[in-house]
Amino acid sequence: MKRWFKYIKPYLPFFIIGPVCMIVEVIGEIFMPKFLSMIIDYGYYNKEATGFVKAITDITGPGRNFILAIMGLMILTAIMMMVGGIGGAYFGAKASVNFAADLRSDVYKCVQKFSFSSIDKFSTGSLVTRLTNDVTQMQNFVNMLLRMALRSPGMLIGAFIMSLTINPKLTSIIAVSIVILITCIIIIIGKGFSRFSAMQTKIDNLNTVAQENITNVRVVKSFVREDYETKKFAEANADLKKTSFRAMSLMIFMSPIMTILMNLTSVAILWFGGNMVVNSSMTAGDLSAFITYVTQILSSLMMVTMLFINLSRALASGKRIVEVLDEKTDISDENARCKNTTVEKGDIEFRNVSFRYYKTSEEKVLSDISFKINAGETVGIIGSTGCGKSTLVSMIPRLYDADEGEVLVDGVNVKDYSLYNLREGIGMVLQKNLLFSGTIKDNLLWGNDTATEEEIIKAAEHAQADKFVTEFEKGYDHDIDQGGTNVSGGQKQRLCIARALLKKPKILILDDSTSAVDTATEARIRSAFRSELNESTKIIIAQRISSVIDADKIIVMNNGVITGIGTHDKLINSNTEYQEIYYSQTEKPEVNE
Ligand SMILES: Nc1ncnc2c1ncn2[C@@H]1O[C@H](COP(=O)(O)OP(=O)(O)O)[C@@H](O)[C@H]1O
Ligand SMILES: [Mg+2]
Repeated sequence: MKRWFKYIKPYLPFFIIGPVCMIVEVIGEIFMPKFLSMIIDYGYYNKEATGFVKAITDITGPGRNFILAIMGLMILTAIMMMVGGIGGAYFGAKASVNFAADLRSDVYKCVQKFSFSSIDKFSTGSLVTRLTNDVTQMQNFVNMLLRMALRSPGMLIGAFIMSLTINPKLTSIIAVSIVILITCIIIIIGKGFSRFSAMQTKIDNLNTVAQENITNVRVVKSFVREDYETKKFAEANADLKKTSFRAMSLMIFMSPIMTILMNLTSVAILWFGGNMVVNSSMTAGDLSAFITYVTQILSSLMMVTMLFINLSRALASGKRIVEVLDEKTDISDENARCKNTTVEKGDIEFRNVSFRYYKTSEEKVLSDISFKINAGETVGIIGSTGCGKSTLVSMIPRLYDADEGEVLVDGVNVKDYSLYNLREGIGMVLQKNLLFSGTIKDNLLWGNDTATEEEIIKAAEHAQADKFVTEFEKGYDHDIDQGGTNVSGGQKQRLCIARALLKKPKILILDDSTSAVDTATEARIRSAFRSELNESTKIIIAQRISSVIDADKIIVMNNGVITGIGTHDKLINSNTEYQEIYYSQTEKPEVNE
């Protein structure tokens, strides 16, 4: 509760004024039937007036003028009710919309802080649902709560008291209906929570399927998998339909039960009340008011039910939002011991590092990795796909943390840097590189948003991107589509390298980042690294031996372990894996018979 109060506090006045307005409306609603009964009893049947009614008849006299006066009061009450109703709806909407906006923004901030492993844990679709749909459920509930929370109980109690003052005996009939209705409500709420939770999960599924398909629509089309994808979506959709129906069906019986109960109660009241009117122990006006109060009592109970149905839905959504808000960022720099240290040189050391993505799995993705890289060196990493190359380098900027062993940069454990300082010192081009919608310049400025025009051009030149960029009509102001789909794979890779270069990092990591660039261009990029990034440490993961052949050190990996470290000349004579890769890419040497 305390957690949610944070989002209520800034809008507390709205949260208070809204319900107060609703109370005004309820008071009007409760007095209306009473006015009507006065018109019938005193205006029409000329019953002897006392108290409030007498005060009015003293002024207006009986009959027509009295009726007109009461009607005037009724119109005033109606206007008051209207103002209350509008105010209630307005402040309710204001409060709930602001509540939801703040909540959404906090959930989003949390997701931004997620470590890679947290992102792996929640699917993207699920995060999107939680951020949008679940927050909206909460918003709807808050809105409804503000409008109903005081109104329904207020109407229930008010109408109940009024009917008691009119006729206690008849009120006992209502009590029976109330008990029946409350039983129904309890059953509905009991089932609501689990059904609505299930429904939100199905919305997750649907979003995941749709999102995966739409972001990868090019692949889907090139494999002519539209039918398959449509079927997959149809399944998720049908699944959602079924679960939604199960959840919604809770309400199907509510309305008919309510109506029949209301009608039966009215019939009973008319029967007993009618007899009383005949015996003159009750007036016709009172009976008419009584019937209205019965309807009010039952319909306010109905509103309470709706409120509880919404509550069970909001609880389900709230739980899912809390899961995101409470997700422990397993990668944090709270306990960092050298928060002010920055990466100055670029030495890297791995000491007996082991890692697995799923902490329960037997097989380690990296096991007992140890090596040392000196500042300024160029290091190649080579090995078959899936052997753990990307995983290994992701330990350096702490995209993932090692399970065992430690990673040191400049002799300091990476966990002891502040995340900002550590990552500022490292330029990384991920294997799945991405550009964002915006101009080329916007994208490059991601690396360093204070870079000057010259610096941008220089970085692009070193990454061999300048030439094709200037060929675009608008040059560096050329617009990139979402995900960078309107440039070629090789162009995208070069822009990503330029982006990383702009950071002027002490450590530059390229994870298979030149795979789509031709070998001649790639050689120029490497020579630019040598001349321009002389002091930075460069780690180059590559498929092609030619990309790493002139590196100071080459690390050969296989199945999560390092099988050899050394120069090309050393490895070609000693390491079978390296020989295999080398000869598979070049012509095999003649074997002398
Ligand atoms: N985010 C992830 N979650 C779970 N497993 C992963 C993840 N990323 C990679 N893996 C697994 O870890 C192993 C090593 O992957 P990776 O380091 O990407 O290999 P490489 O870069 O050498 O091709 C592979 O078996 C892969 O399936
Ligand atoms: Mg990889």
